[in-house]
This record gives sequence, C-alpha cells and structure tokens, in this order.
Amino acid sequence: MIMSKKKLIIPSLANFLIFILLGFVAATEDEQKEFYIVYLGDQLNNVSAVQTHLDVLLSIKSSDFEARESIIYSYTKIFNAFAAKLSKAEARKLSRREEVLSVFPNRYHKLHTTKSWDFIGLPNTTKRNLKMERNMVVGLLDTGITPKSESFKDDGFGPPPKKWKGTCVHYANFSGCNNKLVGARYFKLDGKPDPGDILSPVDVDGHGTHTSSTLAGNLIPDANLFGLAGGAARGAVPNARVAMYKVCWMSSGCSDMDLLAGFEAAIHDGVDVLSISIGGVKANYVSDALAIGAFHAMKKGIITVASGGNDGPSPGSVANHAPWILTVAASGINREFRSKVELGNGKIVSGVGVNTFQPKQKSYPLVSGVDAGYSGNQDSARFCDEGSLDPSKVKGKLVLCELGVWGADSVVARAGGKGIILESEQYLDTAQIFMAPATMVNATVSDAVNDYIHSTKFPSAVIYRSQELTVPAPFVASFSSRGPNPGSERILKPDVTAPGIDILASYTPLRSLTGLKGDTQYSRFSLMSGTSMACPHVSGLAAYIKSFHPNWTAAAIKSAILTTGKNKIFPSIPS
Ligand SMILES: *[C@@H]1O[C@H](CO)[C@@H](O)[C@H](O)[C@H]1NC(C)=O
Ligand SMILES: *[C@@H]1O[C@H](CO)[C@@H](O)[C@H](O)[C@H]1NC(C)=O
Ligand SMILES: *[C@@H]1O[C@H](CO)[C@@H](O)[C@H](O)[C@H]1NC(C)=O
Ligand SMILES: *[C@@H]1O[C@H](CO)[C@@H](O)[C@H](O)[C@H]1NC(C)=O
Ligand SMILES: *[C@@H]1O[C@H](CO)[C@@H](O)[C@H](O)[C@H]1NC(C)=O
Repeated sequence: MIMSKKKLIIPSLANFLIFILLGFVAATEDEQKEFYIVYLGDQLNNVSAVQTHLDVLLSIKSSDFEARESIIYSYTKIFNAFAAKLSKAEARKLSRREEVLSVFPNRYHKLHTTKSWDFIGLPNTTKRNLKMERNMVVGLLDTGITPKSESFKDDGFGPPPKKWKGTCVHYANFSGCNNKLVGARYFKLDGKPDPGDILSPVDVDGHGTHTSSTLAGNLIPDANLFGLAGGAARGAVPNARVAMYKVCWMSSGCSDMDLLAGFEAAIHDGVDVLSISIGGVKANYVSDALAIGAFHAMKKGIITVASGGNDGPSPGSVANHAPWILTVAASGINREFRSKVELGNGKIVSGVGVNTFQPKQKSYPLVSGVDAGYSGNQDSARFCDEGSLDPSKVKGKLVLCELGVWGADSVVARAGGKGIILESEQYLDTAQIFMAPATMVNATVSDAVNDYIHSTKFPSAVIYRSQELTVPAPFVASFSSRGPNPGSERILKPDVTAPGIDILASYTPLRSLTGLKGDTQYSRFSLMSGTSMACPHVSGLAAYIKSFHPNWTAAAIKSAILTTGKNKIFPSIPS
C-alpha cells in the first residue's frame, strides 16, 4: 500500500489510506490521561445509566468530583457505554471489572453519475414504491453535508415521516434542514479545535456531500465536472430523506467516541439504513466502535453498510469486516479519463487523470525533475517535493516527476512550471484530479519520455485536456482492500463490490477540487474514488429494497443483495 519509493501521503479523505492513530504521546504512560471508551453492553432499562457510569468510575477514582470530571459522554439511548479520560492503569483496572465488556482507547480513523447506477442496472426508469421511498430516512456518518446543494433541495417533498425523531437547527455556516435533509448534527467530543473545519454539520471536505448525494441525492440533469463525466446525477433512492451525522473532521479524522455518538443518535432518530464510509480497525469486535455501533443498529432492524477500505491489494487488508456489517469493495465502471501527451518528436503517449486544462501553447519546454532541482537536491527533486525545485529551471516548463507525495502538480505550478507528467506504478486505474495540466503515466511511458528528454537539446511536449474513454468493466480496483477476513476466518469479506472509481456526485463549495495550495478549481460536482464511494451505492440498494419490503430484517436485505448479483461484462467500445 505504501509506495515502495517513499511514503505516500494523500490529502483527501476520499482517498486511499486508512490510518489508525493510537494517540499516545507517551510520557509516564500510567499517569498520562487519554480518551477511552468503556463498553458495558446492552442498554440498561432499570437504573439510570449515567449513575451506573459514575459508579463504575468511582471504583477507580477517589471522589465523586473526579469521576464526574473524567466522564466525557454517556451513551444511554441504544447501548450502554461511556467515554472518559483515564490513565492506562485506570483503564486496565476498569477492564477487569465484571460488568465491563471492553475498554479501548479512542482511536481516530480516516475516511476511506451518474452513470454508475445505469451501469449496475438501476436506471432512472426503474420501478419505485414511491410512497414507501418517501418514508425512508437514510443516515450517514461522514464529514457533514452541503445543505444548499441541489441534491438536497426539497421541492415536492412533504413533511418527514411521523416516525422521525431527528433534529436539525441552524449552526455556523449551515443554513439548516428542509423536508429532504431532515437531520444534521455533529459530534466532536474530544473538544479540541480542528483547523480548517467548522463546528457545524456543514461539509468542508466534500466527502460527505459526495456520499450522501450518491445514496439519495435528487436527480440533477446537467451534472458534470468542467464538461467531463456529463449526464444526470442521482442517488439510488432520490425520494428518500437524508440525515447526516458529522463525525469526521478535516484535521483529526473520525474518532471512536464521535462514531459511537453518531450511531446512537442515528438509531434513536429512526434511520432506515446506515451508510458509513470510514476506516476501521483490526480489533476484537468488542473494541471496535464501528462493529459495536453496527451490532446495536442490527438489533433495532437497521442495516449498516460500510466501506471495506483502500489498503489493497494486499491480502487480509479488509476493514469493517464484522459479520453483521455489509462490507463493500470498489470496482471500476466502463469509463476512464485519459490525457494524451505529445512529445516534441511527434510521439504520442497517454496517461490517466482528470486534467481540465486546455493547453495555451502548441508546446512547452520539458525537463525532468532530477535535472531541475537545486544542486545536491536530486533525490527529492525526482519526486518534485515541496521546496526541491529551482524555479529558474522549471519556469514555463513541463516537468517529469515520480510520484512521492500527492501534490507535486501544486509544487511545480508554484515554482512557475506549466504542468507535470507524473510517473507511478500504482493507482493507474484511478483518475486523480490535478490542479494544473498533468497526467499520470506508467514506468514504460515515463522511461520513453525520459529517454526523449535526454536525446535532444530542446525537449518539448504538450499535455492535452482529459478525454473520456470506454474500457472493459467491471474490474476490482487495485486499491480496494482484499480478504481473507482477518476477524472471522470462515466468513467471506468484503461481501460485495460496487462502483468506486471516478464517481461523479455533488461536492462542497467550501473546498477546491484538490484542496491543494493554488488550486482555483471549484465545482458543484466532483469525481472521487475509493470504497467510500462504493459504499453508498450498496446502502442505496439496501434502502431501495427496504422501500419494497419495509419489514425485512438487516440480514434479509443483505442476503437479497448478495444472492442476486449478476455477472454482466461491459465490453470496450473502440473510440
Ligand atoms: C439492573 O440491571 C442490571 C443488568 O440487567 C443488573 O446487573 C442490576 O443489578 C440491575 N439493577 C437494579 C437496581 O435492579
Ligand atoms: C428520470 O425520470 C423522471 C421520472 O421518471 C423523469 O421526469 C426525468 O425526466 C428522467 N430524467 C432523465 C434525465 O432521464
Ligand atoms: C462561516 O461563518 C462565519 C460567521 O458567519 C464567517 O465569518 C465565515 O466566513 C464563514 N466561513 C465559511 C467558510 O463560509
Ligand atoms: C503503460 O501505459 C501504456 C499507455 O497506456 C500502455 O500501452 C502500456 O501497456 C503500459 N505498460 C505497462 C507495462 O503497463
Ligand atoms: C410490517 O409490520 C407491521 C407491524 O408489525 C404490519 O402492520 C405491516 O402490515 C407490515 N408490513 C408489510 C408490508 O408486511
């Protein structure tokens, strides 16, 4: 998963890495207080759960005041748990108590058309049970939502179904809910500021707006990304209502405490389906917040659909693999975005990526990053790392770089370069969006370009705007996490695959397309890739099925999805 050459850091939550930060800064480890979750199992109905939590804490704290001070949050509505600030020693002591099922540190997770619906056989003209679909509320735990997006306008929607108990008020930078977006809340229990984000359900990242519009967004006829991927965008259940529980934050990610609070609120509010495109842990199920939340959701008849992770193709990399979760892998649809590169010698090569820029000149001087660094800096200049390129050597030129860390396009542009040819051995099945003219090529193509550069005195090239090509499909995405199931050997995981490569859906106006320095591209829609994008395709199907069979259990819906897949191959159409 990690690039062989260098550690790859991906800026967007939509992307490929799922980090698990254990959050210990290790001082005298037994005294240092950290956030822990103490899980006590099922909801209590005889005594005040909050009092129980204090009683449990009193067994390790010296006073009632200390116990009250350490408690961060009590989960009492659906299951019995609390979050508290504890030392390692206190956590160990608590975990030995009989009534305590597990104690685990609060971890932070990363998040792991619209043609794709037609591709998998759910056309706009599909038969619908409108009355029921309008009564469905789909819940997402994600980065928030864009309330003003056309995907969530409520024209033609009546009031929310009577069963709905969710709430939504005005928050900072959040215009509030309507009859389509019927719930929006946020959880940030660690109380730490999150640079770049806003304490509000508003989506600053784009991920949550994208997943929710894929799941249940209204039909928008004229969706596209600067003319690419044009067509109607829509969710699987465009008549269903949406509830967003923001538990993921720009800087800190998605913490276990917030995830559990989101689960509790969503289950209590009465969502019909839960869609969670967030990284998981390889842990015992009783120390895995997502597994715990999904378990209690299932007990209330709610199916949880989750992304399987972007740590492929290594074996055993699948996350969110508890048997009661519907775990989704990502695959490609029959569309690819490629750019042609014409070299000064007339040779034409091609690469992948979304490059929305039309060249302004017939050609540009071309240089290799290795040759354009400050002297002695060849090693980082090969990767066009921040600060490695000498502006006097790249000004006005295209630069050939190896993929080290995403964002070399921004580094080259800020050094005065005109674009970048990026060599990579991975992710060649996924179109990265670039903030400057750019494309990603394999080593064969890169070698040819490099040979050309060193074969002539004035090498030059031009990168053309990306075009849409038709390719054979489906195929499993290279990045999609693979089985076998690290938690329960005998249960196959992931359960099912769904489109997760270059998916067009709604996006936030609060962030440029790449989030990179200097990017001036903003769009109502964006293309994203990941099992994060595949997940709402399957939660959408779950909601669609539930609209016809409202009394089916989570297991019945899952079974229906797993046992009715057909293998339909889309051949390549020569273009
Ligand atoms: C409440 O229920 C729990 C578990 O069901 C039990 O352990 C506890 O003793 C009960 N408390 C009271 C006051 O009945
Ligand atoms: C989709 O279907 C709806 C109703 O069935 C129709 O009004 C609409 O025009 C269709 N849109 C597209 C883009 O096919
Ligand atoms: C959020 O709202 C505040 C206060 O209304 C405003 O100053 C700020 O610019 C807004 N931020 C964004 C990103 O819209
Ligand atoms: C490299 O990319 C080119 C252009 O897409 C393709 O024709 C070639 O087969 C690729 N080579 C390898 C080794 O994948
Ligand atoms: C679902 O169950 C409820 C009560 O259990 C019942 O009233 C209703 O008729 C059932 N609906 C269907 C479609 O079977």
